[in-house]
Amino acid sequence: MSSNPTRPHDDDLSHDGGWSASAAAWLEDVEQNLTRKMLDPLILDLCGDIRHRHTIDVGCGEGRFSRMLAERGARATGIDPTTALLTVARDRGGISPIRAIAEQMPFRDAAFDVAVTYITLVDIEGYAEAIREMARLLRPRPPNRRQRQLHQRVGRSGQWLAS
Ligand SMILES: C[S@@+](CC[C@H](N)C(=O)[O-])C[C@H]1O[C@@H](n2cnc3c(N)ncnc32)[C@H](O)[C@@H]1O
Repeated sequence: MSSNPTRPHDDDLSHDGGWSASAAAWLEDVEQNLTRKMLDPLILDLCGDIRHRHTIDVGCGEGRFSRMLAERGARATGIDPTTALLTVARDRGGISPIRAIAEQMPFRDAAFDVAVTYITLVDIEGYAEAIREMARLLRPRPPNRRQRQLHQRVGRSGQWLAS
């Protein structure tokens, strides 16, 4: 076990934030969730043109958003530690779901064009490591117009992203 009880051990896949227990309830609700339907167009817009791009969906759950990326031409990979959700993601097809935690993802540096974590950072114990990992996995590329706008807004409201 980790010597720090608030942080997951590097390769401890049991750190799913309690999602193994919540998976069945989540699967019942996942397609009906209105908040997500409102967020979908915004997040898709931020992803930009993802045709032929390799995307990583961090905390993909049963894979709903990754399937949307795949339908738009992305080569979509998702990671999640919760077996019950990954099994459904595999059954529903269209994406490559892999069992892993966001804090330590089993990919080489600069392996992806786009990284998404959709209403999931709040569930990740080591969210700062997860953000560092996503930065590590991204190929350097200039931000698109929507990403620049978001960055400017976040920059005006504080410096938290930089720390
Ligand atoms: C609110 S659900 C969102 C699932 C998916 N992104 C969606 O929009 O349907 C949160 C997800 O975070 C995953 N999760 C929990 N701890 C995690 C971790 N350490 N690394 C990656 N994913 C984690 C859970 O298994 C769950 O699938």
